[in-house]
Amino acid sequence: MRVLVVGATGLIGTHVVRLLSPEHEVITASRKGSAVPVDLSDKASIVAMFDTLGTVDAVICTAGAAKFAPLSALSDADFEFSLANKLMGQVNLVRCAAAHLSQGGSVTLTSGILARHSVEGSAAVSIVNAGVEAFCRSAALELKGKARVNAVSPPWVAETLQSMGRNPADGKPAAVVALAYKRSLTGDITGQVIDVT
Ligand SMILES: NC(=O)c1ccc[n+]([C@@H]2O[C@H](COP(=O)([O-])OP(=O)(O)OC[C@H]3O[C@@H](n4cnc5c(N)ncnc54)[C@H](OP(=O)(O)O)[C@@H]3O)[C@@H](O)[C@H]2O)c1
Repeated sequence: MRVLVVGATGLIGTHVVRLLSPEHEVITASRKGSAVPVDLSDKASIVAMFDTLGTVDAVICTAGAAKFAPLSALSDADFEFSLANKLMGQVNLVRCAAAHLSQGGSVTLTSGILARHSVEGSAAVSIVNAGVEAFCRSAALELKGKARVNAVSPPWVAETLQSMGRNPADGKPAAVVALAYKRSLTGDITGQVIDVT
């Protein structure tokens, strides 16, 4: 399959690319350092990316930022940034991908554990992740028969916990998280939020 991975240079994206590359033609995308430049927060950039690429069989998104901070510290700009980046960035990715996917293709988005397990400081991230999951179910309904849409909900990733000085054993290695994206890509599920177990 011809698979576009947006966020390919990141922690999870690197492992997704490594996992899929032996069997698929993987096209990497991110703002910097990938084969194809794209800024998810800029719809025109997404449109330009698909115009350059033509048809793909699958899109996987492991990119998207949202602001983690106490509710009292979150500004209007922080909420706007979070919604425009990780939520609307992925919504627009699906909207634009729909015209460029081969019949029966798939899109796999990324939400996260904070959608359903809030912690202090997660207000903006939790909204965004829950929005991604709700959108995924709706988009899957509307694209049924043409394309599949799923979201992977990563738990804390072990390498991320380690970089934060926390116990990596409380998370899952990025290589294990990557398997969930492969499951979405190669299976027949749609409208699902895939938890990493
Ligand atoms: N790591 C965790 O513990 C964890 C847990 C739950 C959920 N998640 C979610 O999983 C996703 C990936 O996490 P990660 O830890 O792999 O992140 P990461 O290491 O920071 O990588 C992010 C990737 O996305 C790209 N990117 C960032 N902003 C972008 C934009 N506006 N347009 C296009 N590409 C962009 C980055 O490259 P450029 O900067 O060059 O664009 C990079 O390739 C995120 O949505 C995160 O919220 C992560």
